[in-house]
Amino acid sequence: MRVAVVGTGVIGTSWARLFLEHGHDVVATDPAPGARERLEDALGRSVAFTDDPAEAVAGADVVQENGPERLEVKHQLLAVLDAAARPDVVIASSSSMLRPTDLARGAPHHPERVLVGHPFNPPHLVPLVEVVPGEATSEAAVDAAMAFYAGVGRTPLRLRAELPGHLANRLQAALWREAYSLVERGVATVADVDTAITEGPGLRWAALGPITGQHLSGGAGGLAHVLEHLHPGTEALWADLGSPTMTPELAARLVDQVTEVAADPDDLVARRDAVIRAALEART
Ligand SMILES: NC(=O)c1ccc[n+]([C@@H]2O[C@H](COP(=O)([O-])OP(=O)(O)OC[C@H]3O[C@@H](n4cnc5c(N)ncnc54)[C@H](O)[C@@H]3O)[C@@H](O)[C@H]2O)c1
Repeated sequence: MRVAVVGTGVIGTSWARLFLEHGHDVVATDPAPGARERLEDALGRSVAFTDDPAEAVAGADVVQENGPERLEVKHQLLAVLDAAARPDVVIASSSSMLRPTDLARGAPHHPERVLVGHPFNPPHLVPLVEVVPGEATSEAAVDAAMAFYAGVGRTPLRLRAELPGHLANRLQAALWREAYSLVERGVATVADVDTAITEGPGLRWAALGPITGQHLSGGAGGLAHVLEHLHPGTEALWADLGSPTMTPELAARLVDQVTEVAADPDDLVARRDAVIRAALEART
């Protein structure tokens, strides 16, 4: 199968690695100067590359779009991809926040093959791909996307509604709101927040997810007992949660504090990837 990877930044590069690892042919495109060299350096191999997005998708069986997260840029790009790709070819956007119905307005010829295929960084390691159809998306396109992602070892999750941020980013946003608020109030540092998750509930979440994990916290009574026993406390906490404003001061505080923790980004990437790989291996 030939996969066009459109946009080879952080996410496009990782998708390209995954598709190549699963034996697909990859044709990549990105207009940035030096993009091809950066991609080949990251992958440690040569790869078919063109500056022309129409050429990249002309012979493709699947298109994974990873351009900048701005609707007008996505629309310009999707117009080119839609005109050049075979009509039956799925165009999946990696967009983190945009709704597929809005994206598909940029593909007037065949909006029925446009959907969101949203990965988590880095997609060559993290299995989840949120598959989100828009109003115009066909069932055939959804089925093809689900099969394609499953075929490259991912866990595709078909969403039941299109919402800004899909599903998992809404959950992350809820946590970031309180995390930033705690730093804003000066009651926790970035390191405190990260330790609280990586040494605590983050381990459980990777195993079971937040609600099934809670079910176990109720012992024999399960979630029903937890909701009766502990939920009033949670509800009181909801009223106390913060709603931070991302002022330049707060942004600077977050960046300064994370830079202290993340002095060596290459080492952090290596540690992150090792833990993700070990967790995935432990499940099999
Ligand atoms: N970074 C993440 O954690 C993450 C996770 C999931 C999804 N996403 C989504 O993936 C997409 C890409 O994000 P990223 O983090 O890789 O951004 P990035 O800035 O690293 O990469 C974007 C790339 O698009 C290229 N580009 C610019 N104009 C283009 C065009 N007209 N055609 C093709 N490529 C073009 C840029 O040169 C750049 O290489 C976004 O839609 C984002 O929402 C990002």
